[in-house]
Amino acid sequence: MSESATISDGMISVEREGDLCVLNWTDGRKEGFHSLWLRDNCQCADCLHPQTRERLFDLMTLDPNSDLIDHLETQNGSLFVTWSDGHQSQFSERWLHEHAYGEDARQARREKPTLWTSEVKNSLPEINYEKVMSGDEGLLSFLDMLCDYGFALIRQTPTRDLEVTRVASRISFLRETNFGREFDVISKPNPNNVAYTALELQSHSDLPNWEVPPGTQFLHCLEFDAEGGESTLVDGFAAARQLQSMSPEDFDLLCQLRIPFRFHDSDWDIRRSATTLALDSFEELEEIRFHSALTAPLDIPSDQVLPFYRAYRALTEIIRKPENILKLKLRPGDLLVFNNRRALHGRAAFDPNTGPRHLQGCYVDNDDVMSKRRVLRRRL
Ligand code: OGA
Ligand code: ZN
Ligand code: ZN
Repeated sequence: MSESATISDGMISVEREGDLCVLNWTDGRKEGFHSLWLRDNCQCADCLHPQTRERLFDLMTLDPNSDLIDHLETQNGSLFVTWSDGHQSQFSERWLHEHAYGEDARQARREKPTLWTSEVKNSLPEINYEKVMSGDEGLLSFLDMLCDYGFALIRQTPTRDLEVTRVASRISFLRETNFGREFDVISKPNPNNVAYTALELQSHSDLPNWEVPPGTQFLHCLEFDAEGGESTLVDGFAAARQLQSMSPEDFDLLCQLRIPFRFHDSDWDIRRSATTLALDSFEELEEIRFHSALTAPLDIPSDQVLPFYRAYRALTEIIRKPENILKLKLRPGDLLVFNNRRALHGRAAFDPNTGPRHLQGCYVDNDDVMSKRRVLRRRL
């Protein structure tokens, strides 16, 4: 059966092409929707709970081999479908536009992060504490920078104990780990972590030994009089892309080969094997796990050991290139926030005899960060 109807609005007609219902828009665009997909996404109150907006419809009640559609038409900016069992559905033009899954539509919805090198120091994504804390616009600007650059700096944060928690709680719950809800980065006696010494920390991601490493890290500078101890940040996604263009096979190996990570002290033994790099379904970089101190002795097929070391060294060389490293000397009141699954962080060695250096940190999951950003966008 093939039907078409015209309306004055953007979506002018619909026709059937095999399994697809093809909608034509006035601008010449066509979007195909499978009949089964449309039935599964019926928006009526029997199929979609009107309050929770969760699906009530049971896909398994359909025979996917039968012709599902009895009648189709467009009218007043909506698509109306009468199904062969008599059920009726209505889809608004806007809803169809927002959920179209043709290649162009899917590409148009993608978010592409701004990759950076050390040059980013000339236009740092930074914002004042008052703005972030006092209104939703400020919080949203901060979240936009954080999502786009993978880091943002909050300036003039009061140097109060646990102020970092107040800021992080503007977004959501904290993500607690074996290092506690909050952690103090100071040089301590009997450290269980190199971060709690005065040694240099090469660029790394925190807690790659977890099934899901913490997403967003907050590091609040409370005191800093020591010599040395400058912070470093590297865009792990930019570094991975540089590797891909220099040596695609090394890049592919780091996307495919899981290597073991482990943290252990007297109370904990947390282990996870994971790939160094991870891509999403668009081949966009989604994650980097990189921490030489927490990489366990390689427990991988023997013929992968030397290829892995080669690829890992090539990536490390890129990560250590000065032109890829943003150097920042944090001042009391600076709160550095970054996506721990993208930006690698580190610090230069410092001399604890020249004065104190105290950072206080915590984590929030990236799901919470992204959710907050979507909700604020919708609201503002
Ligand atoms: C950490 C860390 C950086 C710093 O605590 O994980 O990397 O600047 N600290 O001390
Ligand atoms: Zn329905
Ligand atoms: Zn760290």
